[in-house]
Amino acid sequence: MKILGIETSCDETAAAIVENGTKILSNVVASSVQLHRKTGGIIPEVAAREQVRFIIPVIEKALKSKIDAIAVTVGPGLIGSLLVGVETARTLAFVLKKPIIPVNHLLAHIYANFLESNPKFPLVALVVSGGHTDLVLMKKHGQIHWLGGTRDDAAGECFDKCARILGLDYPGGPAIAAEAAKLKAKNEKLKIKLPRPMIEEKNFDFSFSGLKTAVLREVERLKNNQQYDNLTIQQLSFEIQEAITDVLVEKTAQAAKKYKVKSILLAGGVAANSRLREKFHLALSSSSFSLYLPSPSLCTDNAAYVSSFAYFNYKPLPWEKISTQPGLSIAGEV
Ligand code: KG4
Ligand code: ZN
Repeated sequence: MKILGIETSCDETAAAIVENGTKILSNVVASSVQLHRKTGGIIPEVAAREQVRFIIPVIEKALKSKIDAIAVTVGPGLIGSLLVGVETARTLAFVLKKPIIPVNHLLAHIYANFLESNPKFPLVALVVSGGHTDLVLMKKHGQIHWLGGTRDDAAGECFDKCARILGLDYPGGPAIAAEAAKLKAKNEKLKIKLPRPMIEEKNFDFSFSGLKTAVLREVERLKNNQQYDNLTIQQLSFEIQEAITDVLVEKTAQAAKKYKVKSILLAGGVAANSRLREKFHLALSSSSFSLYLPSPSLCTDNAAYVSSFAYFNYKPLPWEKISTQPGLSIAGEV
């Protein structure tokens, strides 16, 4: 079965065709990130307008073969951006008389792993994106138990907000990783220590807004002491990355142990972070869990995982019943 996936939840316009949930026949992504870089973050109206500009060319480019069904992200995401993908998918389903499957963007992120491998159940998945941080237990396709998530900012959001404080580019994750790498190359001794929020707590919840505030205070202190320079920006970046990744690894490993799973899956844009990937490898090297890390290009928003999710969770609805759900949660029904 060949499914055309469409993804427009944020600032990427993406279309892909995947055969039987695993074989990528085409995978096209257009991004308006350059525009958002100028404003240091996403302006929803601007993102939606770019979605309108890109959607048809992106689908045209992806349509390399006949398709059997259409899958579309219905939420969570920005309403204006989601509408572009959903209305286009509904129209295509009606005109081409194809089944249409509504897709939860957060669950779809997890399927980046199924595009490249065949993880064994039960599994825990850590979904770390720009707007969400969730830990879920999956006993099989379609059986999701939410274990915990962030009480305030998401991990990606924390990277983005800290980068903004430090005057670095948007999106903040790659920008902070690049600054941190410069420090590592110099082998400098670290003089800055930041908190690891909730790392000791015996639950699967996260909180990252306090970390951002700690960074803000540290920057103020360094500026007042005339110590704020390129080197301290690199040190702060290094420690921000260490703090966020320490918490993510610890909580995920605890969840895997508690639920005695076979596999641990990472998903979402932050899963592209090489330090996070390295730490997961180190933490689990002597454990019995199999670790799955999608290729970095499949971690960030794309439509291939939307198609894959729809194949393994094949629940078409009449096109009239498909609508945007901007506030959908990872455990929410579409
Ligand atoms: O999943 P995604 O592409 O879009 C959403 O659904 O939100 O995630 C975007 C987030 C942004 O916050 C971005 O800073 C972060 O993923 N990100 C990274 C890296 N690449 C993207 N964070 C840390 N390290 C990276 N290499
Ligand atoms: Zn995403």
